[in-house]
Amino acid sequence: MMTEGEVAVLDYGSQYSQLIVRRVREIGFVSHLYAPERLAELKNPGAIILSGGPRSTSEKDAPDVDFEKLLAFGVPVLGVCYGMQLLNIKHGGSVKPGTTREYGPARLHNTTSVLFADVSEESQVWMSHSDTVQDLSASTKVIATNQHNVPVALQWSDACYGIQFHPEVTHSHEGTKILKNFLSLAGDTLAPFNIASFKDQLVESIRREVNGREVLCGVSGGVDSTVLAVLLHKAGVKTRCLFVDNGLLRKNERAEVEAQFKEVGVPIEVVDASKTFLDALKGVTDPEAKRKIIGNLFLDVFFGAADHIELMAQGTLYPDVIESATSGSQASVIKTHHNRVNRALELKAEGRVIEPLAEFFKDEVRALGAVLGIPHYALWRHPFPGPGLAVRLPGEITEERLNTCREADAIFMDELKKSGWYEKTWQAYAALLPVKTVGVKGDERSYEAAVSLRAVISEDAMTADWVELPHSVLRATSNRILNSVKGVNRVLYDISTKPPASIEWE
Ligand code: XMP
Repeated sequence: MMTEGEVAVLDYGSQYSQLIVRRVREIGFVSHLYAPERLAELKNPGAIILSGGPRSTSEKDAPDVDFEKLLAFGVPVLGVCYGMQLLNIKHGGSVKPGTTREYGPARLHNTTSVLFADVSEESQVWMSHSDTVQDLSASTKVIATNQHNVPVALQWSDACYGIQFHPEVTHSHEGTKILKNFLSLAGDTLAPFNIASFKDQLVESIRREVNGREVLCGVSGGVDSTVLAVLLHKAGVKTRCLFVDNGLLRKNERAEVEAQFKEVGVPIEVVDASKTFLDALKGVTDPEAKRKIIGNLFLDVFFGAADHIELMAQGTLYPDVIESATSGSQASVIKTHHNRVNRALELKAEGRVIEPLAEFFKDEVRALGAVLGIPHYALWRHPFPGPGLAVRLPGEITEERLNTCREADAIFMDELKKSGWYEKTWQAYAALLPVKTVGVKGDERSYEAAVSLRAVISEDAMTADWVELPHSVLRATSNRILNSVKGVNRVLYDISTKPPASIEWE
């Protein structure tokens, strides 16, 4: 019997490369990302996809492909964007360097290939490129054009194709179908992907990488660090899980996190630094100053408690990797703002940071968490920022204001959960505004604070839209807050998209 092969994706640097891998896994096959230079190392690919990339094939040192080797595998090949242009050159065609970038939707026309089986005429696809194919070799077939009759998909042989658009992004409405059609060219030679066996491989690779050393793992109770801690535990790795209480947590959060880890059977150490944080924040109102204080203190407290470190594990996900690569920020290294010497960066430079989840997207991490036996509520917890309620409390941070914010937030969460809207929103919270508003209480005028509720949907936190919550949910929340939270006489609902607003207040 023939061994089944993986779908190898050669990474030419597009921010969507890992998304191709993820789509292939969604379709149901094993897939991994490789640097193009590693083509020769591939053991048994069942299909190969060349990704897009930011470079131009006309640049002198543009990333290349060992074409002979690529064809020698005798498996289906698909070039996406840069990948298509590269393959066109290799087949004897040419590419015209562009001066402006075409970015946005296009419509597929004149589709004449198995690649587009069951794909609708005029299907929307997503473009992001500046170079375009120019000359085509005599044997090249144009298998799709855009609405202006420009070739956007090419076929060079029975098993070698190129597409100018990005099938992996959701803006390409039938992109997954197109990828599926391409993979069907491999017949039954592709290895099926299954999350349970994948988890076993991951546990095995963690065990190998850790190789008997002790691992330090910061936990927050959030999805990523919880899945990471449970993975390390399942791998039998000696782990120290540290949870820092910075005094900026939500109502009952510390107890809930402790209970959550008890339930999954992973011991954690709680470092109570709330007084240190609140003392340092006294009188501070500038948002950047608050973030700096919190970031620096977090590093002090975390690494102060950790002392001797052999290895550190971080729950970096693929979108964090992308964010740090594209913005130059160190989003993946302890997600916090700081200007102290960051021990995490030093450890990373020394090769002592492991990031076992760095290939994954959030929903894949949730699926992994489910096969690890992590309870549903823990996997569907909303994201919560490292600086905690500080970014939801414009103005001075005091114990009293924190408690007001906590009470209002807890009511909002309760109403969202009761109505089934918690899991339909990506993130939601109550912020306490630094203004006093006039109201009436009994026969007297009151002068109290305003609370702003925010509920958003988002895919990656880069953009977000506010959720059209039913009026009944908003009304129930507002009534309860106004009736029971001391010091609040006004409740607002935030209807700002990101951009231009951000998700948090500060
Ligand atoms: P913004 O407010 O920038 O938030 O639209 C985007 C996402 O990031 C979270 N966030 C943070 N997370 N440290 C974090 O760990 C931070 O300083 C921070 N600031 C914002 C925010 O909750 C949202 O999910």
